[in-house]
Amino acid sequence: MTDSAQNTPYTTNNVGIPVASDEHSLTIGDTGPILLQDHYLIEKMAQFNRERVPERVVHAKGGGAYGTFRVTNDVSRFTKAAVFQPGTTTETLARFSTVAGEQGSPDTWRDPRGFAVKFYTEHGNYDLVGNNTPVFFVRDPQKFQDFIRSQKRRPDNGLRDNDMQWDFWTLSPESAHQVTWLMGDRGVPRTWRHMNGYGSHTYLWVNGGGEKFWVKYHFKTDQGIECLTQEEADHLAGEDPDRHRRDLWQAIEGGDAPSWTLHVQVMPFDDAPDYRFNPFDLTKVWPHGDYPLIEVGRLTLDRNPEDFFVHIEQAAFEPSNLVPGIGPSPDKMLLGRLFSYPDAHRYRVGPNYAQLPPNRPHSGVNSYAKDGPMRYEPSRTARPYAPNSYGGPAADTARFGDVAGWHASGEMVREAYRLHREDDDWGQAGTLVRQVFDDAARDRLVATVSGHLLNGVSAPVLSRALQYWRNIDKATGDRIAARVNGG
Ligand code: NDP
Ligand code: HEM
Repeated sequence: MTDSAQNTPYTTNNVGIPVASDEHSLTIGDTGPILLQDHYLIEKMAQFNRERVPERVVHAKGGGAYGTFRVTNDVSRFTKAAVFQPGTTTETLARFSTVAGEQGSPDTWRDPRGFAVKFYTEHGNYDLVGNNTPVFFVRDPQKFQDFIRSQKRRPDNGLRDNDMQWDFWTLSPESAHQVTWLMGDRGVPRTWRHMNGYGSHTYLWVNGGGEKFWVKYHFKTDQGIECLTQEEADHLAGEDPDRHRRDLWQAIEGGDAPSWTLHVQVMPFDDAPDYRFNPFDLTKVWPHGDYPLIEVGRLTLDRNPEDFFVHIEQAAFEPSNLVPGIGPSPDKMLLGRLFSYPDAHRYRVGPNYAQLPPNRPHSGVNSYAKDGPMRYEPSRTARPYAPNSYGGPAADTARFGDVAGWHASGEMVREAYRLHREDDDWGQAGTLVRQVFDDAARDRLVATVSGHLLNGVSAPVLSRALQYWRNIDKATGDRIAARVNGG
């Protein structure tokens, strides 16, 4: 605060009243007691006690930056989304994170990395909340909470537990593809700048003529893929637990703005029922040979947040933020996520989280929402209901009335997805081991998995884990078994 008369800065309390001292409490004599009317002291103590919001239940440790997304290729034949039209540049916020670790956990633990991007488009916020991997551990939202609990801490001793992790994974064979990816080299990126991001789910795109396409998003790092060895990662976890947060901040501060080129795979709408894999199964990729990458544009991050808590901790990404021209798909995980995130934000940040700087759309808000804790933007209209005859906003159904969806009918069931021709739990994981990894990468995979299994995994779980790896790739499974059994 600056005193306008003398132009000298002085401390105030939270409502701008000049304070008498930064250092001394108000007491009766120098030995006290302290007086209750030292309102400033009480404000400081009370405010301090409320400095934290709960950390994110997953993806608690992270960092991020602002930037822009610039369209570099014409994909308007696939989507009418304003953000992807030729010549468009859109402000963005990105946040990267680990999944299972808490706020203070090391950045270099082996874990998928979150790759969340918020586009401040002319039709409101579009959030693409992905990971640095194209697949996931489970394919039904019913199993997400159980999966996460198996990765976090035990209730009895507060410790993370490899036995728990392998128990869940081996009882959930759909995890094989993601576990193989995680135990491979890309399971520990060198920095957030040196990893790709994937939307992972299949989404729906709708063009100006109402034609629909299924799409998958791939952000390819322009810095090149670089990973840490397990030894480097372990060392850095002790030496510099904030390594990735520091790296991103320093790169941007030094003018070295990282960028990613966004590509999509596009599947014609009618290909889905007969495609060789279920195209909505989050444990599967679409092989590039079937659906090649099509360039869309470039994401560049060039502005560090001026306040980490305001802009990164309070950032609220939500897969349900879908703009005209983009919709969800029948991927059950994605449909579950559409509920989960805004619910988490209302609890973690508060019901008016959308008014905070990182979450406020740049295109304006004309909603009928009102009131609630910490609301500071006035209602748009004195008649807070629709329809009304007092000039309140009305939906523009002519422009935005179409539903980005698909035909659905049938009995209510609790069932797995219908299997497509080549669907199974092991095939794509095996392809990764045999066709993508080279000999040196397979050696590192064997070392990483056996090291993990030798760290507290009990006998029955261990024997299931060895079979799990033989199912992925017989030769690799045999090598892991030999190492675990002391060979
Ligand atoms: P391709 O040969 O066309 O693609 C192989 C992919 O593997 C590339 O995208 C490459 O990424 C990625 N890759 C390379 N090394 C690793 C690693 N250590 N860990 C994880 N991914 C790596 O083959 P397909 O499209 O037919 O896919 C074959 C297998 O590749 C799949 O079963 C899947 O496991 C994996 N994969 C496939 C992706 C897809 O969307 N099709 C995406 C990522 C992995 P890059 O080009 O950036 O180097
Ligand atoms: C964060 C739930 C699957 C990526 C979160 C949060 C919740 C959540 C509650 C914390 C949100 C917050 O407090 O701000 C779920 C559920 C899932 C699921 C219920 C499955 C049903 C996935 C998948 C991906 C993913 C498949 C990636 C493809 C992320 C990312 C964040 C996150 C990147 C951090 C966002 C940020 O940086 O703030 N998830 N998640 N999640 N999730 Fe998920």
